[in-house]
Amino acid sequence: MNRLFRALYEPQPIMPDAICQGLGYDGKALKKIDLTRSFKVKHFHRLLPPHIRSLQTYRAGKPAEELAREKNLSRISKLASNENPYGSSPLALSAMKAASKNVHRYPDTGAFALKNELATRWNLKQDNIILGDGSEGIMTYITRALLGPGDEVLTSENSFIGFSIMAKSVAADLKTVPMTDDFRFDIKALKKHLTEKTKIIYIANPNNPTGTYISVSEIDDLMSAVPKRCLVILDEAYFEFARSCPDYPDSMDYRHDNVITLRTFSKAYGLAGLRIGYGFAHEDLIDGLMKVKPPFGPNSVAQALAVAAVRDSTHLEKTVRCNLEQRERTFAFLQKIGFYPIPSVTNFIAFKAANPEGEAAMFDDLLELGVIVRPLSSHGMTGFIRVSIGTSEEMDHFISAMEEILPSWRNRFGSEM
Ligand SMILES: Cc1ncc(COP(=O)(O)O)c(C=O)c1O
Repeated sequence: MNRLFRALYEPQPIMPDAICQGLGYDGKALKKIDLTRSFKVKHFHRLLPPHIRSLQTYRAGKPAEELAREKNLSRISKLASNENPYGSSPLALSAMKAASKNVHRYPDTGAFALKNELATRWNLKQDNIILGDGSEGIMTYITRALLGPGDEVLTSENSFIGFSIMAKSVAADLKTVPMTDDFRFDIKALKKHLTEKTKIIYIANPNNPTGTYISVSEIDDLMSAVPKRCLVILDEAYFEFARSCPDYPDSMDYRHDNVITLRTFSKAYGLAGLRIGYGFAHEDLIDGLMKVKPPFGPNSVAQALAVAAVRDSTHLEKTVRCNLEQRERTFAFLQKIGFYPIPSVTNFIAFKAANPEGEAAMFDDLLELGVIVRPLSSHGMTGFIRVSIGTSEEMDHFISAMEEILPSWRNRFGSEM
């Protein structure tokens, strides 16, 4: 370890000559640096414990600008990350200027304005609310505060991989059960796999990447079997799109003490780039999570824009309405061309393309035409593609690109369907 420390931190001759001509803060000449001497990466690798080393790095969808540059394309439709294609609320954007005046100050650690807005809207106390850098931020507080090596976490296969990565990053023992045949969380299987050691159950409702949801009666069934010592995370990142389904369980109607509801400003509210999400739970749990939360997140601009976004019901309603129109149209198209779209209540649709090669080829062929979708092998759904629902122009682009690639694609993979 000593040798490693010296190798990494002892002053080494690693700066270029030009810089070396100058003096350091202490007035002494800086040491010579040889940039050809690279860091010994394998040392870092050895610092990582095995459960971190074995994690797969999360790969986000390709940025549109990168694709435009690489392929020299003028038209790009990014349909890979379930963002709001209509942008942020105009009210939020107009709050930006005022919010940016104070960026030289740390944010309000109590986030009074936003918590007050949420508390009023959902009839809660501020002590029942936690904010995070995205709802993923709150997941990190939960895993950090509640989980340790070997603690059992129960969830489904083919669910949000962000949560699985976090659970594994604290060496928790992640148990997964298969989905039902119609790609939904299998409540019976979850109940069967509950053990004395289960500490957390994670449910994305609706689920990403399938777009499906579990109903009021299914949640009731699950909650009747879950012991009070076990925390249920109800991740409702796509709540705003699903809430109109009559049997969709709004978890705010399920104020069990052992449930935490997670929601986000990244999807229907169109603030993904600002990284802000919120959680509702019993104040004792929130108090515990606050102990491990870095004090200053989310940043002050995110807090201010989120307040404005919550107040802008017009933008939210437009987003949900247009999403529904384009989702129905895209679903019908995928069915018509003989794929198997999974019925979705969200702003994306997953569909069965073919075998892994067919999935990769479809992704590549669409990319050539400027359409970025998400292949789902990485989510354990081999042969599936997920397309986020964009504007009507973006879905025109997706549909025409699919029609263009299909003849040649079918020649290569059609028989696999
Ligand atoms: C089910 C689910 N939960 C959470 C998140 C993360 O959202 P946020 O941007 O709030 O971290 C996502 C993002 O794709 C998601 O699909």
